Amino acid sequence: MRRGTDIDEAVAVLRGGGLVAFPTETVYGLGADASSPAAVARVYAVKGRPDDHPLIVHLAPLAPGATGAALAGWAAAVPPAAEALARAFWPGPLTLIVARGPRIAAAAAGGGDTVGLRVPSHPLAQRLLAAFGGAIAAPSANRFGAVSPTTADHVVADLGDDVDYVLDGGACDVGVESTIVDCTGPAPALLRPGGVAREDLERVLGAPLAERSAASPRSSGSLPSHYAPRARVAAVDADALAAAVASERRRGAIAVLAQAAAIARAGVTPGDGVVAVVALPDEPAAAARQLYAALRDLDATGVDVIVAALPAEVGLGAAIADRLRRAAGPRDRPRAPSPDDPEPGT
Ligand code: TXA
Ligand code: MG
Repeated sequence: MRRGTDIDEAVAVLRGGGLVAFPTETVYGLGADASSPAAVARVYAVKGRPDDHPLIVHLAPLAPGATGAALAGWAAAVPPAAEALARAFWPGPLTLIVARGPRIAAAAAGGGDTVGLRVPSHPLAQRLLAAFGGAIAAPSANRFGAVSPTTADHVVADLGDDVDYVLDGGACDVGVESTIVDCTGPAPALLRPGGVAREDLERVLGAPLAERSAASPRSSGSLPSHYAPRARVAAVDADALAAAVASERRRGAIAVLAQAAAIARAGVTPGDGVVAVVALPDEPAAAARQLYAALRDLDATGVDVIVAALPAEVGLGAAIADRLRRAAGPRDRPRAPSPDDPEPGT
């Protein structure tokens, strides 16, 4: 594994069918040439991800005013809602599910006929995509089910020599994954809350987003828990934080993760079984930026349990609450997926 900021080297690795971890504004991606079945197969092998679980395909910024045409090859059809959302939020933390175009290897889409497309806003990601000239398929650059990486150090710690080149762009600005909107059904549906707030999407659409339904494209074979650190996570309402801390500290060493106001209200301080307390900013976007690094740091303290308070689900608070709930999900009992499941995080 090599690490640096050399775009030419990263492009050479991609052209050779290798894997490049690269920064986006959300989290680091583990990238491969989206047109190459062999390169894409390496992504699945390194992630330990089921091969029917589709990857997000990243594109360079489109020419202004040319959304539909510029997507030719990558998307087989771009419905009006997808076009409107792309115009409003690309480049940015929004993934649109559309019909898959012929230039994307079927394997990158988990063998399905839809694909998640996204134009990232991170300058290094854009330089990489422009120099490469093609599309880059990339899941988050962590092993399947683990917490997503928001720094190059996280990627190196997780993947080591399984990745050929790590493009180092420092810490990610958004800190949680992109929002995913399915544009293949009768009305756009929110599949995963993320870096673009639902409120902002609905403002552009002029209508509420539909919820995931049985007809929504989804990946099979998913596990109920993702984004999970080693420690058990107890996700609780902020109002219940004091009581949860009181009960969990009797059973083992605990860490507490909550927004500053919730910690103050609950009167939580270190000591007496509470090994560490991390106060996230009260402003949701600032809290999202720090979320995954905080989970990793708390996990590294070796505590048995991380007690995490759920934020108000406005703006990026919805994405934070979603990730905390999934980190708290049951760990080792795979079961058949149901249409009511939250979108699996990977
Ligand atoms: O912010 C992000 O989205 C990051 C950065 C690297 O772009 N990527 C990311 O990828 O989070 P990943 O693979 O960790 O999560 C992608 C999610 C998965 O849950 C997958 O099932 C869903 O997107 N997905 C991808 N393509 C899909 C499709 N065609 N239909 C339904 N879901 C899809
Ligand atoms: Mg992921």
